Amino acid sequence: MDQETYLQQIAETRPERIAWWQEARFGMFVHWGLYAQLGRHEWVMNRERIPVAEYEKLAATWHPKERPAREWAALAKQAGMKYMVMTTKHHEGFCLWDTKQTDYNAAKCGPGRDLVREFVDACREFDLKIGFYYSLMDWHHPDGALCAKDEAARRRFLDFTQGCVRELMSNYGKIDILWYDVSWPLRSPEAWESVTMNTMARELQPHILINNRSQLPEDFGTPEEHVTAEEEGRAWEACMTFNGSWGYMPIAPDWRPVREVIDMLRTATAGQGNLLLNIGPKPDGSVPPEATERLTAVGQWIAKNGEALYGQVDRAGRGRVEFMVTGSWTIKGNSAYYWCHRWPGSELVIGGLRTKVLKASLLADGTPITFEQTEERLVLKNLPHFDPDPIAGVTVIKLDFDSPPVQRLGAGCVLLD
Ligand code: GLC
Repeated sequence: MDQETYLQQIAETRPERIAWWQEARFGMFVHWGLYAQLGRHEWVMNRERIPVAEYEKLAATWHPKERPAREWAALAKQAGMKYMVMTTKHHEGFCLWDTKQTDYNAAKCGPGRDLVREFVDACREFDLKIGFYYSLMDWHHPDGALCAKDEAARRRFLDFTQGCVRELMSNYGKIDILWYDVSWPLRSPEAWESVTMNTMARELQPHILINNRSQLPEDFGTPEEHVTAEEEGRAWEACMTFNGSWGYMPIAPDWRPVREVIDMLRTATAGQGNLLLNIGPKPDGSVPPEATERLTAVGQWIAKNGEALYGQVDRAGRGRVEFMVTGSWTIKGNSAYYWCHRWPGSELVIGGLRTKVLKASLLADGTPITFEQTEERLVLKNLPHFDPDPIAGVTVIKLDFDSPPVQRLGAGCVLLD
């Protein structure tokens, strides 16, 4: 099939396939592989120029504990996440599943078992959708680089790659997301045979969502380490590290605070996007306590304020609601959610709302708020003097309007148009 026809066909089935994902909002990324043993970032093999023969030894010394994926899934569930994506093979080339394509895999080496199977089982147990990350780039496969220059090597490498994808799409029941990464060193989707590969994936998994990293736009964009909306109408998911490294890296001390995670969720929601937040488990599979602590708090916050982020939301921002200084918005139908992260005290003034407010309340517990709305100003009164959110200092105020909310402030004190 030619590329244009392929892209057209998947666009037609996308709205139905992607509906759950667009309501899910929040997922857990898991980067786990041999590199966890070194604890110096998942790019350590490349950055430190570790020879293949030396790096390979890590396959024999890796002995994770029993079923750590259950711990990740339990944490994801508690954190309010709705899906998980795990590295089945990162750039290092070590396969976490029992593959026939190479013996360099978790079942035949140190772990002695299929870690992808454990991941899938854990997701199902905790009712989370399942995503497979797969790095096209491969530093271990003898043809992984040679394929760029040698046609026979390219054929062998593509057969290997397609063999891996076929197994992942065949052996684990229903899989929800195929998350490709780094398409080095081949320079075009034709060279990668991406249409053929992804058509095969879709035949095996008709409901699957595929990301944009096999050199085709596919179902969704993947801004990395920044939460930035793609153009309207295009689905997107920001993937973010927790501490600057995807793989386990205990020497990276700057963990994102709970407030920042909540703010990323708000930005994602406002742009109708998703947030895929990473954990890099330790070699034994346990989650770094810094991640557990923060995700637990995020989950407690979401348990009270989830309505402001889950579900089919509208695009906030320019033309609908404005940039504010005490907080920011998400919107859904006739409601607006004001995520107040700088609590002003007993009174909060919001300017420029052009739609009629019917009701104001604290989202977390439904406490009604008295208010006065004039042409230019909404004054919320008798608020608690201190920020009522004990978890993160982010209080969501829900406003119900008589129609979809519109706020216009202009740049001066008079609207010019
Ligand atoms: C980058 C990195 C990789 C990481 C990925 C996640 O492409 O190369 O290590 O897995 O981002 O998005």
